[in-house]
Amino acid sequence: MNNGVLKVLKERRSIRSFKPEQITDEELNAVLETGTYAANSNGSQAPVIIAIQNPKLVKQIDEMSGKIVDPTGAFHPYYGAPTIIFVLAPEDGVAPVEDGSLAAGNMLNATYAAGLGSCWIHRSKDIFSSEKGKVLLKQLSLPENLMGVASIALGYANGELPKTAPRKENYILHVK
Ligand SMILES: Cc1cc2nc3c(=O)[nH]c(=O)nc-3n(C[C@H](O)[C@H](O)[C@H](O)COP(=O)(O)O)c2cc1C
Repeated sequence: MNNGVLKVLKERRSIRSFKPEQITDEELNAVLETGTYAANSNGSQAPVIIAIQNPKLVKQIDEMSGKIVDPTGAFHPYYGAPTIIFVLAPEDGVAPVEDGSLAAGNMLNATYAAGLGSCWIHRSKDIFSSEKGKVLLKQLSLPENLMGVASIALGYANGELPKTAPRKENYILHVK
């Protein structure tokens, strides 16, 4: 089947090296909007999407997340990406992880469709359950009951699209 959306869904790969220049607001907004149109439990539109482009805050988040893994501060989990997107959702909601993950998945695919590079970065839950994370929520005037579900490093890819790993055997079972 020859379809542009199907092609994007298959070709998107995680990008782990970024150019320092910032993406345009038009590109960012196109990506963010797709997150708001993801399927969500009970039509709740529960996720909250935060896009961070303030260089000081981007650095602070990179350090905060990196130090969870390596307290020396030598680990930079966001790979120098100039934009970080977080997806949060109320922890007492029906399906915060599923809702947030689908929003993030839409946005990852959208970045590729928009000619950008992105990678899901772990530890959003740890970040927003920490003291510093709670302070950040307060600074952003967001409620304390939001849990971190996903984060995305976003920018212009530096270099080639990584090769696609072959799909494992028996990934799909088709019962007719
Ligand atoms: C829940 C989740 C957590 C991930 N965490 C990280 C991460 O912390 N750092 C990273 O470089 N990639 C992370 N990734 C990206 C995966 O490593 C990547 O999607 C996988 O290797 C498949 O490669 P592809 O995205 O290029 O198809 C994460 C992906 C998911 C879905």
